[in-house]
Amino acid sequence: MAEPPCKIKLLICGGGNGAHTLTGLASSRANVEVNVMSLFADEAERWRKTLGNDDFTVHFTEKDGSVTPIKSKPKIITNDPAQAVPGCNLIIFTVPAFAHEGYFKALAPYIEENAVVVGLPSQPGFQFQCVDLLGERGKKCAIVSFESLPWACRIMTFAREVKVLGAKDTLSAAIIMRKSKPQFEILPTIQYLLGPEPNLTQANNYLAINLLADATVHPPIMYGTWKDWDNKPMAEKPLFYQGLNEFCADLLSKVSYELMETAKAIEKECPVFDMKDVIHLHDWYKLNYKDSISDDSTLLSCMKSNKAYDGLVHPMKETDDGKFVPDFKYRYMAEDMPFGFIVFRGISQLAGVKTPAMDETIYWCQKIMGKEFLVDGELNGKDMNITRAPQRYNFKCIRDLVDLQ
Ligand code: NAI
Repeated sequence: MAEPPCKIKLLICGGGNGAHTLTGLASSRANVEVNVMSLFADEAERWRKTLGNDDFTVHFTEKDGSVTPIKSKPKIITNDPAQAVPGCNLIIFTVPAFAHEGYFKALAPYIEENAVVVGLPSQPGFQFQCVDLLGERGKKCAIVSFESLPWACRIMTFAREVKVLGAKDTLSAAIIMRKSKPQFEILPTIQYLLGPEPNLTQANNYLAINLLADATVHPPIMYGTWKDWDNKPMAEKPLFYQGLNEFCADLLSKVSYELMETAKAIEKECPVFDMKDVIHLHDWYKLNYKDSISDDSTLLSCMKSNKAYDGLVHPMKETDDGKFVPDFKYRYMAEDMPFGFIVFRGISQLAGVKTPAMDETIYWCQKIMGKEFLVDGELNGKDMNITRAPQRYNFKCIRDLVDLQ
């Protein structure tokens, strides 16, 4: 991991687990200056005051289980974009998707041409929102979309210590250059900031990243599990993945085929777009969890026998008498509908692909959420403005999506 050829002035947007981790790792690298911007309540002020002049620590769990403490310090922690943004040549969002809009708006007046804007993770529709909100200078900024966060990580002491429980082996990113001329090579520079793990690879294009499998699973599982619930509190929290029923597995499979059909239709219309990254969820599990699955014969058996899912339960709220009811406000629907499912549905619609399984899922979820996205088969419900579907940003056909490159 060679040092980049120029000074990296990095802006990290966010203040949670991922932002803590990235702040600690990037600040420890030579020739990198780190500004942190959190727009959430008084989070920046609390972080700055709590850290004071002390060092910040990342406790990094290595592959052999040993833990390496990495100490460092960011230059600025602020909520003020006028202080944080000017001069930054790399801007990384490490914050849940519902908060992205506020950051794009804060960046727009100060961002400089040729800066690189990164979603780590981006979550579906990041690119559409970026193009819409980043203003004139933002038109000459590259957009990088990562499929996920590089680590499982948790804050130990807010503003002071974070633990990396493990880094992924590999992580894929799509890059849209637009008209930008960054001062450094993008992926090698981000690799330098993160360290050797995960190994970063470049995806074929941003639409494939948008349709990748891992963002598709939560809403169908919520629907398939709770659609016939009798409203009675339960004695225990049900297992989320390992408790999967056949209805859910069948629905997930159908949604997965709809996404593959969408990918094929995009490739047919625009052969320059290689969509081979979009594979069936069953194959995705076999690829990504091959060491932790004991029975990979079906999608259902993959999910039920995946050791990586040990102990993961449905999001539940406790009742006064110590029982549990489902938490329908949890991010599995609150985020994964507007910044996931509705984006998939929008791209499929532009590709002319019918999506009965997605639609069935959306109708149930939006009713439970008290929202309206899909009406009579059309994405024109009153709550479309909280989504990142391409329709919200006036994309009218697949060609429009391809031209974003
Ligand atoms: P987090 O849950 O720690 O993020 C919390 C942060 O979000 C807060 O510190 C604040 O900066 C911001 N925030 C919260 N409420 C807000 C509001 N109302 N308005 C504006 N900002 C608000 O998120 P984390 O763990 O850093 O994850 C970042 C992304 O990576 C998420 O999309 C998450 O799903 C994903 N991810 C996280 C993993 C992990 O191990 N932490 C693993 C894989 C993916």
